[in-house]
Amino acid sequence: MNPCLRSIVRTACLCDVEVYGIRRGYEGLLEENFHPGEDGTCVMGMRSVSGLSKIGGTILHSSRSSRFQTLEGQNQAAEILRKHKFDALITIGGNGTQKGAIDLSRVWNGQIIGIPGTIDNDLYGSDLTIGFATAVGTAVEAVDKLRDTAGSHELMFFVEVMGRHCGDIALATAIASGAEIAFLPEVKESPETMVKKLKKIKEAGKTSVMAIVAEGDESGGAFAVQKILQEAGNPFESRAVVLGHVLRGGSPAPADRILASELGNFAVCAIIQGESGKMAGKINNELVLTPLEECVSRHRTVDAEGLRLLRIVAS
Ligand code: F6P
Repeated sequence: MNPCLRSIVRTACLCDVEVYGIRRGYEGLLEENFHPGEDGTCVMGMRSVSGLSKIGGTILHSSRSSRFQTLEGQNQAAEILRKHKFDALITIGGNGTQKGAIDLSRVWNGQIIGIPGTIDNDLYGSDLTIGFATAVGTAVEAVDKLRDTAGSHELMFFVEVMGRHCGDIALATAIASGAEIAFLPEVKESPETMVKKLKKIKEAGKTSVMAIVAEGDESGGAFAVQKILQEAGNPFESRAVVLGHVLRGGSPAPADRILASELGNFAVCAIIQGESGKMAGKINNELVLTPLEECVSRHRTVDAEGLRLLRIVAS
């Protein structure tokens, strides 16, 4: 999110548009909590985003706001936006953030443009979301390390990665790390089928196995899947590891820095051109705007090509 903020601020400055950074998301908006800018004001300048391309997390901070989920909170937020004479708002975040943008647009008539910022890669309207590449990079690094132990100790590892409703992190991690199996919320396979697969892997002479489990898999997380397969006759001795929030941090991967810069710039240009109620995204290598309603109501389908590829490269 930091490289995205840097791009937004610098594009806006070059276009003579004043920018304010709202801290702590919608909760911060209700608190009128603005990021300190330059010269003792809250206006962000070119230099207030210096060095941000390599910093993980977000200098604006983030929060979940229960107050903003009520109509009263949304009206209050709209009142604050009017009070400060804001013309437009850019909302960087996942599904919840973009749903909040839609709620706000019902009570405030300024322009709103969303930017997909979530490691889960689960937003319709962009092939990739900001944070996904970094999270996958971190997961692959961890799986590579675990593979060393799996290899030398002849073990199977169940490695849980984030992804509440979406298996994209798990699938990409599995392909990139050379894992044998991925458990995804979008794909249902019985424990018996999985155990059959594992027995085949063992008969083929493999002594270690890496399985990547998406947090949102229907059987539960890595520990639950480990238990289910053990009871169903898993021929491998196994361990479970949860990577969890480790995937949310760290210096952004170059692909994320570039996507964030592109989408930040594109969002400001869209506002200048009068656009509103849309999310900036990148589809088939082209920057596009998709209505926010569509982004939150439609679901991206599982990457069938990725699944096919995993089956081949893991065979
Ligand atoms: O929405 C992104 C996500 O990373 C999910 O994959 C995960 O379930 C969730 O956030 C965790 O959020 P929290 O910060 O509430 O633990």
